[in-house]
Amino acid sequence: MEEKLKEIIDVIRINKLSYLEILQLLQEKFNFVPMDYLNKICEMLEIPKSKIYGILTFYSQFSTNERGKYLIRICDGTACHVKGATKLIEMLKRNYHLEDGKTTQDKKFTLQVVACLGGCFLAPVCMINSHYHGSLDENKLKNILESLK
Ligand code: FES
Repeated sequence: MEEKLKEIIDVIRINKLSYLEILQLLQEKFNFVPMDYLNKICEMLEIPKSKIYGILTFYSQFSTNERGKYLIRICDGTACHVKGATKLIEMLKRNYHLEDGKTTQDKKFTLQVVACLGGCFLAPVCMINSHYHGSLDENKLKNILESLK
């Protein structure tokens, strides 16, 4: 941890990162915000923890739980539910042992079931990291995930 922490602190200092950018850096590096790193950074750079925690809890893009390399957000909002989102969620459970909020053992995938991704016209929809995938069925989703392995 020491080596990695020093490297991160250097990046923060050299680039004079804002609190938001520090959180983005951690999220990008680890796929989640590890609290042990964040606390050490706060101590070493004399950052008030309350300020950075406020930002951390405000933005849903940040997670303090360990995430896989790929975050699969499956929409189970009304339009997607009607068009078969449940089947997609069942396929993920059956083939990848994934459940809402869980990560695969190999740390490849994390599943999050969400209410609406704003792409109802392409239902059923999922987002994998920052990419949208629409008009899904079980096979299409499985092929996408296999291509990421
Ligand atoms: S209900 Fe699924 S994208 Fe809107």
